[in-house]
Amino acid sequence: MRNNLNAWTVSENHFPSFGSIKEKFKFFVRYAILAPSGHNTQPWIFEVHEESLNLYADRTRALPVIDPDDRELIISCGAALTNLLVTMKYFGFEPEVTYFPEETDNDLLATVKVKTRDYQPSDDDKIFFKAIPNRRTNRLPYAEEIIDEITFSKLNNAAGSDPEIRFLKIDSKETREEMTKLIEQGDRMQSQNKSFCRELAQWVHPNRTSSKDGIPGYAFGMGDLISFGSPFFIGNLNWGDIQAGRDRNLIKGSPLLAVLESKNNKPLDWLKTGMSLSGLLLRASWEGISASYLNQPLEVPELFDKLRELIKTNYYPQMIIRLGYGKQVKATPRRDVEDVIKLG
Ligand SMILES: Cc1cc2nc3c(=O)[nH]c(=O)nc-3n(C[C@H](O)[C@H](O)[C@H](O)COP(=O)(O)O)c2cc1C
Repeated sequence: MRNNLNAWTVSENHFPSFGSIKEKFKFFVRYAILAPSGHNTQPWIFEVHEESLNLYADRTRALPVIDPDDRELIISCGAALTNLLVTMKYFGFEPEVTYFPEETDNDLLATVKVKTRDYQPSDDDKIFFKAIPNRRTNRLPYAEEIIDEITFSKLNNAAGSDPEIRFLKIDSKETREEMTKLIEQGDRMQSQNKSFCRELAQWVHPNRTSSKDGIPGYAFGMGDLISFGSPFFIGNLNWGDIQAGRDRNLIKGSPLLAVLESKNNKPLDWLKTGMSLSGLLLRASWEGISASYLNQPLEVPELFDKLRELIKTNYYPQMIIRLGYGKQVKATPRRDVEDVIKLG
């Protein structure tokens, strides 16, 4: 296995039962870093103290063109936070979380303390934990098999019970079609934006990359040879029409199209959206369901209000997700745990 995929070999057998709480936190972080992140930037830092852990946004890994407000950056950190909390619970550590504990520090997203050490994990906790190393973003086509109502409600429950975060299924054929058009429009607009292309090209790598972040071409279904030229194509060719056609087909073949949305649109809402996203994806993965994202209308400001109008929501759409039954795909690289941990 390539070095940059080592993070995925983590196993519960490695839990340092007799280690200090610091060593245990470090182990929990091994699962946190398997979370998804925009362009696989992994924009998080975990500061481990004697009895607590601070989660910081690493804004040096920001994507100023696609994500100028660090909205997706904080969603990514929220996903990592859920993985961390799920892992703590699995090992009997009941977490206590304080969000944005310091008014003057916007980078400090959460502080996690251990409330009790004899927590009994629920069946859901166990499912979520076991799913962490198998979750992937799957951008390939899915099978026609539908996601039934019972399974949908499991996903909905996994997205959490916070009434300020909603998982919205796009059922109507007309709305799906109009949403597809917005996504296609987003593809074309993004491909015509040179800064967008330059930024993306920096994070897309050939399949044989040794880079520990970013997206190898195989995650887009590219063979080795094509992937070699992918940063060049993205940076120099007009790929908008190709991507738009591809996305249309992917949506057409996806049994479920959904939006994750929040009541408000501030950093805390983004963090909670990310937490909800990870729960949803872990449950989906456990059920054998794949997911990928079609966030273009949320990333192109001109399309954002059109999307809200289309789905008739007074909430703020944060993620557009397609789900369906797909084959397991290869994991993407991760940085080493040592690269994201600061000892406090
Ligand atoms: C907030 C956020 C936004 C994302 N947006 C997109 C997107 O618009 N298109 C896409 O193909 N993948 C998107 N992704 C998926 C990431 O590229 C993916 O998580 C990352 O490459 C790591 O791969 P993995 O999920 O398979 O571990 C997004 C992920 C997150 C957390």
